[in-house]
Amino acid sequence: MPKNKRHKYERVKHLTNVTFSLFGKSRPPCSYPWYAPRYAGMKKVLELGCGKGEYSLAFAAADPRSLCVGIDSKSHRICVGAEKAIARGLDNVHFLRTRIEHIREFFMEQTIHEIWLTFPDPHPKKRAVKCRLSAAPFIDTYAHLLIPGGTVYLKTDSDLLYNYTRESVEQWGGQVLTASENIHGTDDSTPGARDIVSAFESAARLQGTTIKYLAFTLN
Ligand SMILES: C[S@@+](CC[C@H](N)C(=O)[O-])C[C@H]1O[C@@H](n2cnc3c(N)ncnc32)[C@H](O)[C@@H]1O
Repeated sequence: MPKNKRHKYERVKHLTNVTFSLFGKSRPPCSYPWYAPRYAGMKKVLELGCGKGEYSLAFAAADPRSLCVGIDSKSHRICVGAEKAIARGLDNVHFLRTRIEHIREFFMEQTIHEIWLTFPDPHPKKRAVKCRLSAAPFIDTYAHLLIPGGTVYLKTDSDLLYNYTRESVEQWGGQVLTASENIHGTDDSTPGARDIVSAFESAARLQGTTIKYLAFTLN
């Protein structure tokens, strides 16, 4: 393993804004830091598959009245975002290292205002369809966590995932609010839709790929 990555695995363990899912140790969701009294009444935003947390950091900086939680299974990536949050004095962003399949264990029903799926893996193979973050079991979880009228946003460079998600939402009985096959060619003003650009997104655009965008509700 590269030295740099190994150092991040070590450093991340000591960051106060990172929570780890510990195997076999279950806690009630209300005991996690994002439900601390100082965050009561704040808008809660989740970024799933946050990588280095570029969206979470940007949302937290743009709106001090919102609390953002970036979630990823890779702690060396989370380490980058969490250290930046501390360096920038952002105390309204946290990171959770877990698999997205387990997020119900960490959040209470109907307490989340927005869920962002930022460039999730498209899992193109048929046998991996169930791993797509817009497969029915994930949509069930989002519906469970969102407040009434809460919104899910997807940004992706994958036509396959974009079309699959539209169908999946419609089949589930949700409502697509906005659908764009090229978000950079529209005037959508949802913060984050166009103005936040992760390194992953920049690389995709440099290769000439258009960025697809969906906003949908489930209740
Ligand atoms: C293509 S990267 C995108 C990262 C970031 N959102 C961005 O826009 O740059 C996908 C991320 O999702 C994470 N990921 C994929 N499947 C996951 C899962 N089931 N649970 C937790 N994280 C997952 C990966 O570790 C990776 O960091």
